[in-house]
Amino acid sequence: MSNATIHIGFKLPDGNIQHIDAPLGQNIMQAAIVNNIDGIEAECGGSCMCATCHLYLPDSLLDSVTPANDEELEMLEETAAERRPGSRLSCQLLATEAMAGVIFEVPECQS
Ligand code: FES
Repeated sequence: MSNATIHIGFKLPDGNIQHIDAPLGQNIMQAAIVNNIDGIEAECGGSCMCATCHLYLPDSLLDSVTPANDEELEMLEETAAERRPGSRLSCQLLATEAMAGVIFEVPECQS
């Protein structure tokens, strides 16, 4: 059971989509880093202090994820790319079954 994974994708600024399998419960930033997803820099290592793990979630997922806490909302003010309704810091998102098949969009720039 602890080996359960979900299939997710990352749409890169050049339009390509990279698909990976992420273990349930792993944070999305770590899953992206382990799989060498371009554009996820994660300079602070997941401490919610850099905003270089910024991703756009599809609208369909917004009601299924834990809302950003105050710390994340503050950092989302600092993103290099434009902030959108689906903007989240991927280090603050854990892989859940609701994310299965989702395509996350990687912003044009992170810093
Ligand atoms: S890795 Fe720095 S805020 Fe997410």
